[in-house]
Amino acid sequence: MLFDSHAHLNDESFDEDRDELIESLPKNGVDLVVNPASDLETSRTGIQLADKYDFIYAAVGIHPQDVAETEEADIQEIKKMAQENKKVVAIGEIGLDYYYDDVPKDIQRKWLKRQILLANELSLPIIIHDRDAHKDTFDIIKENKSEEIGCVMHCFSGSVELAKEYLKLGCYISIPGTVTFKNSRKVRAVAREIPLDKLLIETDSPYLTPEPYRGKRNNPAHVRYVAERVAEERGISFEEVCDASKANAKKLFRIEE
Ligand code: NI
Repeated sequence: MLFDSHAHLNDESFDEDRDELIESLPKNGVDLVVNPASDLETSRTGIQLADKYDFIYAAVGIHPQDVAETEEADIQEIKKMAQENKKVVAIGEIGLDYYYDDVPKDIQRKWLKRQILLANELSLPIIIHDRDAHKDTFDIIKENKSEEIGCVMHCFSGSVELAKEYLKLGCYISIPGTVTFKNSRKVRAVAREIPLDKLLIETDSPYLTPEPYRGKRNNPAHVRYVAERVAEERGISFEEVCDASKANAKKLFRIEE
């Protein structure tokens, strides 16, 4: 029923109860999850989870906050993981994060670009993280992404206008749990105004827990609250949001089941 397009189930906050939690997801209506990586280690552990559970798929890549020490050999390692594992469905999460200033911006831009070129080469879609870096992220995607590969703007925080620019590039927009927050008017406007066939939903577990559980650890079962809120905003049924977001994510990540 529900496809959580972005959950870090290999995060250490799930170390105590990971298997139990994952096994409970199908009963809670979640039947597909993409687990993105943030570095080489989480690329590996994400693949291990995908190997263990049919309904979990993995993405491999290096997050902008983890590229300070990145070298070309790491990119080759990611390439090898993507080529050798059938359940790797994307390169991600990659992008730019100007909120924290511990990784120089030019270094971030360099490795975002490099990883998009890798995705082009492997013909895999990309999962993009953009925090406080809207213009540079857009420019790099526009310049480097080949038309053949898909793209999802994970945890989209931009305006409706920016979302429309991404739609022109063939990108999908993923709506996170912040859509339920009282002060998140911008995300709700995006959730209402983008075409239903370009919309994905996600939890970004263990972060960004939606209402009514805000503040607690997030998990993919909470993607239902994102779907409910999107349905309410658009004036359509919960089932329509579930079906459309799932069909969209399956198309983007080329998952057949
Ligand atoms: Ni994430």
